[in-house]
Amino acid sequence: MKLWAGRFQKETDDKVNDFNSSISFDARLYKQDITGSIAHATMLGEQGIIAREEADKIVETLKVLLNEIEDGKVEFTKDSEDIHMNMEVLLTERIGATGKRLHTARSRNDQVALDFRLFVKEEIPVIIGMLVDLEKALIRQAESTLDAIMPGYTHLQRAQPITFAHAMMAYANMFRRDITRLEDCTERMDESPLGSGALATSTHPVDRFRTAELLGFAKPMDNSLDGVSDRDFAIEFLSACSILMMHLSRFSEEIILWCSWEFKFIELDDAYATGSSIMPQKKNPDVAELVRGKTGRVYGSLITLLTVMKGIPLAYNKDMQEDKEPVFDAIDTVELCLPVFTAMIDTLTVNRANMRRAANGGFISATDCADYLAKKGMPFREAYGIVGKLVGHCVDTGHSLETLPLEEYQKVSPYFQEDVFDALSLETCVGGRKVYGGPAPEAVLKQIENLKAFVKEREEA
Ligand code: ARG
Repeated sequence: MKLWAGRFQKETDDKVNDFNSSISFDARLYKQDITGSIAHATMLGEQGIIAREEADKIVETLKVLLNEIEDGKVEFTKDSEDIHMNMEVLLTERIGATGKRLHTARSRNDQVALDFRLFVKEEIPVIIGMLVDLEKALIRQAESTLDAIMPGYTHLQRAQPITFAHAMMAYANMFRRDITRLEDCTERMDESPLGSGALATSTHPVDRFRTAELLGFAKPMDNSLDGVSDRDFAIEFLSACSILMMHLSRFSEEIILWCSWEFKFIELDDAYATGSSIMPQKKNPDVAELVRGKTGRVYGSLITLLTVMKGIPLAYNKDMQEDKEPVFDAIDTVELCLPVFTAMIDTLTVNRANMRRAANGGFISATDCADYLAKKGMPFREAYGIVGKLVGHCVDTGHSLETLPLEEYQKVSPYFQEDVFDALSLETCVGGRKVYGGPAPEAVLKQIENLKAFVKEREEA
C-alpha cells in the first residue's frame, strides 16, 4: 500500500511503478535524507508541533537506521518509490505511529530540494581538495622548470619563447579560478529550502531559521515557491564543473601533443601511460585522452539539467526527478578524473633539449629583434617592417636570425650592431620579460608565490 494511496481505488500499474520510481539512484541521498529528517523532527519537538519524546524517539531511530544502512543491513524497495518514502516506511516499521508524525509540516518537495542541495554542498569541498592537490603538483613542476625554455605558440605557430614553468602556471591560474567558482556557488547555495513544504510552507508554527541553523545553512530561502523549485544551485555547480573539465581537456590536448614524437617536449611516467596490443613501440597518453573524452559527459549533464528546467512552471514538477542522475554522473566523473590527472602531471618529466631546439627554430625572437630596433629609437611599426623583410630574406637563404651575418643586418638598418646576437638569445628574450605575469624566472616565481598563498589559505581552512 502506497503512503499516498488514500484516494486511489486501483493499484499502480507495474510499468508505472518502474517508471516513476527513483530509488535506484536517489538511494544515494540516504544520509542527507536522514540529516534533514533529524533537523526537522528536532524542530517539530522544540516547537511543540509533536511531543518532545516522540521527536527524540524519531531522531534516535533515524540514527540507528543510518548505521544499519551504512553496514549494508537495509534494503530499499522500489514499491516505496524513492528514498524519502523508503525512509518513512522503515521508520514506521520500527516505531509505528510515532514514525508517522515525522512528515508533519513537510513535503517530499522541500525534502528532496534539501537532500539534493546538502549532497552537492558536501561534494564541493571534495572537488576543491582535489584541485588543490593539482595546484600543488603544478607548483612542483613549475619550480623545477623555471629555466626550461620552450616555444610559446599562437595559432600553434611558434610565437615567443616562454618556459615550461610559465605554461604550468598558466593552467594553475585557470584551476585557481575553478576553485573560486566552486566557492562562489557554495556561498549562493548556503540557504535552506526546508520548511517550504509542498510549495506554500505550513500552518504549523515551523521554525525555518532553526532547521537552517541545525543543518549548517546561513539562513532559510526567502520564498517557499522558489525553495521547492530552485535547481539553479545544481546548474551553477554543473557549470563550474564544465568549465573545470574544459580546462582539464585543453590541458590534456596539450599533453597529448607534447608527448607525440613530433614534439617530444615531455615524457609521461610509464605508470601513467599505456601500450598498444599490436604496435610494440607505442606509449599512449590514454589518461589525458580519457579526461578529454569524459569532458563530454559533464557538459552533457549541464545541458540535460538546463533543458529539464527550462519549461516547467512553479513549483515542483516530476520532471525535476531527472535532476539527480546528471549531477551524480558529473560528480563521479570529475572526482575520477582529477586524482589520476594530478598524478600524471606530478610524474611527467620534461625534455629540455627538445623544447630548446624547438624554441631555437622558427624565428621565435623576431619580436625581440623588432624591439631591439625600437629600443634604439626606431618607431616600432617601422622596425616590425624591417624585421619582416629580414625573416623573408632568411627563409630564402636558409638562415635563421641567430645565424644571419651582421653585414646582412646592417644592410637593412644601421641600428644593428654586434649586440644584436645577445639581444636575440633565448635567455635574453625570456629573462627580459620580467613584467608582472611574464615568463622570466623571477616573474614566474612571483606567480608561484601568489598561488602558494592561495593554496595555504585553502589548506588551513
Ligand atoms: N522522487 C522525487 C524526486 O526526486 C521526490 C519528490 C516527489 N514529490 C512529489 N510530489 N512527487 O523529485
